[in-house]
Amino acid sequence: MAEKRIVLDVLKGETVFPPPIWMMRQAGRYLPEYRATRTEAGSFLDLCYNPDLAVEVTLQPIRRFDFDASILFSDILVVPHALGRDLRFEEGRGPLMTPIAAGEIAALEEVDPASFHAHLEPVYETVRRLRVELPGKTTLLGFCGAPWTVATYMIAGHGTPDQAPARLFGFSDPDNMARLLDVLAERSAEYLIRQIEAGADAVQIFDSWAGVLDEAAFEAYCVRPVRKMVERIRARFPETPVIGFPRGAGSLYDDYRARTGVTALGLDWSVPLSQAKRLQRDGAVQGLLDPLRLQAGGRALDEGVEAILHALADGPLVFNLGHGVTPQTPVESVERMVRLVKEAHR
Ligand code: CP3
Repeated sequence: MAEKRIVLDVLKGETVFPPPIWMMRQAGRYLPEYRATRTEAGSFLDLCYNPDLAVEVTLQPIRRFDFDASILFSDILVVPHALGRDLRFEEGRGPLMTPIAAGEIAALEEVDPASFHAHLEPVYETVRRLRVELPGKTTLLGFCGAPWTVATYMIAGHGTPDQAPARLFGFSDPDNMARLLDVLAERSAEYLIRQIEAGADAVQIFDSWAGVLDEAAFEAYCVRPVRKMVERIRARFPETPVIGFPRGAGSLYDDYRARTGVTALGLDWSVPLSQAKRLQRDGAVQGLLDPLRLQAGGRALDEGVEAILHALADGPLVFNLGHGVTPQTPVESVERMVRLVKEAHR
């Protein structure tokens, strides 16, 4: 690796100023070129499983904004799909699956690893090609969903505002919930290991629905399965940073890093900057900007960026949004955010 990859350095604990920047969902519908490729692909899943087109949409935001990290284009739900669960995406409705019944969980354990990875081979091929096509300085991130967040979609069959079906399933049938989370943790770790083998420099585990759980459920559904994943990945790749993103975890963020072993912490915008500053003592933090400040632009954006830089730029910070960029975000706002961060001075 001749060139420095500054996101990778920061994830490992270095302070770099100005901080590196990338954006969750940076390949997405706010970009006209994404919408064009998405139309060419036909369906969203066809885009995920077509390396030519997946590479193209992954590179689009890098060409436009020269972000310091590139995240593989795929979706968290390809893992249950590779385990034989049906999956489709409907315009305006998001993902749709047949809700899993308790009696179907054992079958997931029986899925042949060879067929699981064969299903996901287009994703690995996308990663391999990206590592060749990306600039040497750009950190390549792989990702997957955390077991709890993936389980919420498998159980409800669709997105819900509070994940009531999955919470109820867990409280009514704890043994099957534990079993489901276990199989997802094992397979998801293997999936990330293959992405690292294919060329990912670091990986992010998205626990987008961590914020709907009480303390005990958070421990059982979020912390424990992610710790298992981290242990498994570390055994194979001790040096590869793992970013944990338990969105909405609030005060439960405080010892998430210590208890799961993740290298870096993704933070949503509800985390106070003073708490983020404390969390930064133990390693890198990433995120924090409310995506609607970016969508709104103007003063809301300038003040949001300034507050984060002021509080956190003298420690290991990867500048990012607190969740994905919205489809309504003007491209000019993104250009402005990148400029504000890259031209920051102390
Ligand atoms: O960040 C990136 O650019 C990489 C690509 C990426 C996508 N999904 C592409 C996508 C990543 C990292 C994800 C993760 C993902 N997928 C999560 C965790 C992060 C989060 O946002 O909370 C979740 C919960 C999913 C499941 C999922 N996929 C939902 C709920 C939806 C529908 C919501 C929506 O925005 O429409 C998707 C679809 C999806 N995944 C899109 C993209 C670009 C939009 C679909 C389209 O282009 O038609």
